[in-house]
Amino acid sequence: MSEKASLDEEYWEHRYRQNRTEWDVGTITPPLKAYIDQLPNQDLQVLVPGGGNGHEAEYLFRKGFHRLHLLDFAAAPLRNLKERVPAFPQGQLLQQDFFSLTPNQYDLVLEQTFFCALPREMRPAYARQMHMILKPGGKLAGVLFSEEFAAEGPPFGGTALEYQAYFEPYFQFNVFEPCRNSISPRQGRELFIELERRERPQFIA
Ligand SMILES: C[S@@+](CC[C@H](N)C(=O)[O-])C[C@H]1O[C@@H](n2cnc3c(N)ncnc32)[C@H](O)[C@@H]1O
Repeated sequence: MSEKASLDEEYWEHRYRQNRTEWDVGTITPPLKAYIDQLPNQDLQVLVPGGGNGHEAEYLFRKGFHRLHLLDFAAAPLRNLKERVPAFPQGQLLQQDFFSLTPNQYDLVLEQTFFCALPREMRPAYARQMHMILKPGGKLAGVLFSEEFAAEGPPFGGTALEYQAYFEPYFQFNVFEPCRNSISPRQGRELFIELERRERPQFIA
């Protein structure tokens, strides 16, 4: 079976139901927290895609970022967020495929262990879709793994060079560097990124 066929909604729902959620740190991680803490504007329209149990969304919501969507195609983690934070508006919990989002909606998208969970064949589509759903001047920020993994994914690793090939046509690289405040199991194994949407994609012939 292809990665795309096997890593579907059912696969992820099953993992949540079986509590096989090794990626879930149980709280917001330091790189995302530090990034959010320096944002000057709480009116931003923010998306946390493949956001799972929603620790980043919870943190944003409690900080007053109320124009916020948590998206995941598994239902269980969205229910978990709603149980922890009953005031989180149901309409801002999107149970749908990231690739079905429509254009020009968000000022900021936060990435953490979503890209690495996707079938590798979806990576070019991820970059294209991010460009499409961001508004002009919008940003994609967060963490990406910076090494290949020996074990079978997900998570699937990757390299800076590979990421540049996907993202450079669509984004200017404001920050793209080794992450300095990763959680200890991920130390030295992550990049922190802040990529700014190009007005028009630039493909070099
Ligand atoms: C490894 S988990 C990471 C969850 C969260 N970002 C975290 O750090 O705890 C990947 C998540 O992406 C979701 N997911 C995978 N493919 C998706 C897609 N195409 N659309 C929406 N969600 C997706 C899964 O259901 C899962 O919750």
